[in-house]
Amino acid sequence: MEKKTIDPKQLRSVASCFATGVSVVSVINPEGAPHGMTASSFLSVSLDPPLVLFSLMNQNQMADYIKVGDPLGISILTEEMEGVSNHFAKMATLDPAPEFILKQAAPILENAHAWYATVIEQLIQAGDHVLVLCRVIDLAALPEKNPLIYYQGYKNIT
Ligand SMILES: Cc1cc2nc3c(=O)[nH]c(=O)nc-3n(C[C@H](O)[C@H](O)[C@H](O)COP(=O)(O)O)c2cc1C
Repeated sequence: MEKKTIDPKQLRSVASCFATGVSVVSVINPEGAPHGMTASSFLSVSLDPPLVLFSLMNQNQMADYIKVGDPLGISILTEEMEGVSNHFAKMATLDPAPEFILKQAAPILENAHAWYATVIEQLIQAGDHVLVLCRVIDLAALPEKNPLIYYQGYKNIT
């Protein structure tokens, strides 16, 4: 069978056909301050044990701050939080910056649609990304809110 070379631009464009929610993953950096990063690769993995993951580009600052055993927060954004998504994607800065609160030592965003407090369980190198597998130790949802959707740009469900 002929081996086709996959063009990264086409890979990105085809991947954008898959609609996702938007999360902010967050850790405490070596200076003791929260560091957040927007991620749409969040995925629920296992119910027992409770595991979730996201895929992290190796060159992102966040990759320097993650270590097995460390607390990590995941905040699922509401439809009003497009600005928060851009802030943690480092595309536009919000002033004042969104504040984190700690749940089980993991930084999470107040007013998120849902949040998970986790501990990093395993780091799996995968090409130019690392899969960050996390064990859930606490979680909650605000079901009366609507999620922010990412599908070829931000979308609201209302
Ligand atoms: C909607 C959206 C989803 C994103 N999803 C991811 C993702 O899943 N993984 C990733 O590594 N970067 C993702 N990014 C890019 C990072 O948020 C961006 O590179 C950020 O600047 C990294 O922050 P840091 O370098 O300060 O850690 C996404 C950006 C946007 C706008």
